[in-house]
Amino acid sequence: MTNQHFLTLKSLSTEQLNQLLQRGIELKAMQKAGEIYEPLKNQTLAMIFEKASTRTRISFEVGMTQLGGHALFLSPRDTQLGRGEPIEDSARVISSMVDGIMVRTFEHSIVETMAEFSSVPVINALTDDFHPCQLLADMQTYYEHRGSIQGKTVVWIGDGNNMCQSYINAAQLYDFKLRVACPKGFEPRADLVEMAKDRVEIIRDPMQAADKADLIVTDVWASMGQEDEQRLRKQALSHYRVSQPLMEQANPDALFMHCLPAHRGEEVTAEVIDGSQSVVWDEAENRLHAQKALLEFLMKR
Ligand code: CP
Ligand code: NVA
Repeated sequence: MTNQHFLTLKSLSTEQLNQLLQRGIELKAMQKAGEIYEPLKNQTLAMIFEKASTRTRISFEVGMTQLGGHALFLSPRDTQLGRGEPIEDSARVISSMVDGIMVRTFEHSIVETMAEFSSVPVINALTDDFHPCQLLADMQTYYEHRGSIQGKTVVWIGDGNNMCQSYINAAQLYDFKLRVACPKGFEPRADLVEMAKDRVEIIRDPMQAADKADLIVTDVWASMGQEDEQRLRKQALSHYRVSQPLMEQANPDALFMHCLPAHRGEEVTAEVIDGSQSVVWDEAENRLHAQKALLEFLMKR
């Protein structure tokens, strides 16, 4: 049997994603009840981080501990990955000793190559193009607060980045409508929008996009790797801030999400992110529970 990887949400079916969502909720309840559950005893997850992280590192590392296994933090600074050892060779060698590999990197093709040459499951923990693990947490968070997201209207405000592109995949798999409000030049990849065109619409005016929305989501204007463009992006995206008047355009029970880290006063005002419609802390905590469901699904023997 070939290895099951998790490179984008599309690595799994809608049925599998819904099962993971329910399992994330169950594992969360078990953890809160103090139940010990260690299906991954003696298993190791290698975590390769070529970009910074707080939530992803902690949630995978703690998740592996709680499931009875171990996580190994590998940074390019102190492995041969940073000295140019080919991805193919690294994937073969690392996978010969561990039971799963998690990768946070730049080009999406790096995780694809890892997966091709790895003998164990590979998990995408963020690339320049996608951040599917965050979507598992976001979908669990929406479900816990409002029930099924099927048929709802989700609005993305700002840069058409890796998170936005994972929301496009999510719109297809979880069956919701997605409006992307972004300025010209900051659109998500055209091929992704085209493939999802029955569910995804690009709208220039953020107020118009937010009309009767059920969920408003945003992210930083400059992602990791775009630090040099910070000033230019700040100018170009200045009208794409989630503010209270924008939240008021949405349905009264609309939720606000942000994968974090956030820049208050840039993509979101403090009033919104620290306000009553914001579920960002649950969203961050759910990284742990949702990914434990993923690790169990991919690695349990
Ligand atoms: N949301 C998220 O992935 O956060 P980190 O960059 O802190 O891992
Ligand atoms: N779009 C952001 C997400 C961080 C979790 C980035 O890639 O930096």
